[in-house]
Amino acid sequence: MDEIHLVTGASSGVGRALCKELAQRGLKVLGIARRSPELEILKNEHPGEIQILAADLGDPTGWKSVADRVRDRYQVSSLTHSAAIAANGYLKDMSLETYRKMLAINLDAPIFLTQSLLPHFRRGARILHLSSGAAYRAIEYGGLYGITKAALLMAYRAWNADFPGGEIIVGSARPGVVDGPMQDRARSGDYPGVELFRGFKEKGMLIQPARVAEFLAWLLLGAGDQDFASQDWNILDESHHASWLNGSLTG
Ligand SMILES: NC(=O)c1ccc[n+]([C@@H]2O[C@H](COP(=O)([O-])OP(=O)(O)OC[C@H]3O[C@@H](n4cnc5c(N)ncnc54)[C@H](OP(=O)(O)O)[C@@H]3O)[C@@H](O)[C@H]2O)c1
Repeated sequence: MDEIHLVTGASSGVGRALCKELAQRGLKVLGIARRSPELEILKNEHPGEIQILAADLGDPTGWKSVADRVRDRYQVSSLTHSAAIAANGYLKDMSLETYRKMLAINLDAPIFLTQSLLPHFRRGARILHLSSGAAYRAIEYGGLYGITKAALLMAYRAWNADFPGGEIIVGSARPGVVDGPMQDRARSGDYPGVELFRGFKEKGMLIQPARVAEFLAWLLLGAGDQDFASQDWNILDESHHASWLNGSLTG
């Protein structure tokens, strides 16, 4: 059976760039997101390697449709959970609907999509969670996003505790401040703390998604099993740059 790499959030930013990076290495990729037109463009850029699936991962039917797509056809080599949303707001004003919507895509989906794919992973398959500084540090008006990322950080450790024999190996990576729609939205509007995000751009801290994809591809394909699961890998940590980075991080 052919092996395939699964990437969520494939219509934009990091997920899209990772699909392209893996395809450029000749690997088969299934890119998943909701927006079909963006997915079609991605597929047309690498028709031999990239397949696409339009699915809402905030809903259990979306997880099932991914499993249905690979069943009896592929062994899954890796699954990268890049899909997420980052709405702002004070916890004191937050509706249950907003809470459930963000939890559904940022936390339920990584856990239950992984669960639904368990029969389809090759032994030692790698699952990668996209972490954030927000998992460690609360910022005013950004509490819920941080809560989801902190929980996701524990989820990667919990999976590894559940699979001590390495049937699957779960890792976590912090992509830095990524140039793209998520940061564009964070810089726009007038809300408490917006200066932080404007400052990221002014200080030249934005990292291109393609650069992040090189980092993630190194983790997925180049790092050893123990290393992969050993920490929440931070792209800004220079100690691993010699292993994958050509040129400057933000250039
Ligand atoms: N951007 C940053 O500075 C930054 C910093 C730290 C961590 N991160 C993390 O890195 C990851 C990638 O971020 P990014 O900048 O690439 O974000 P992005 O450009 O906003 O992309 C988010 C992706 O998630 C998908 N998505 C959202 N809701 C979905 C749903 N219900 N079902 C399926 N797909 C859904 C979107 O596709 P559709 O809309 O087509 O469904 C899109 O492809 C995220 O986990 C983020 O939390 C980002």
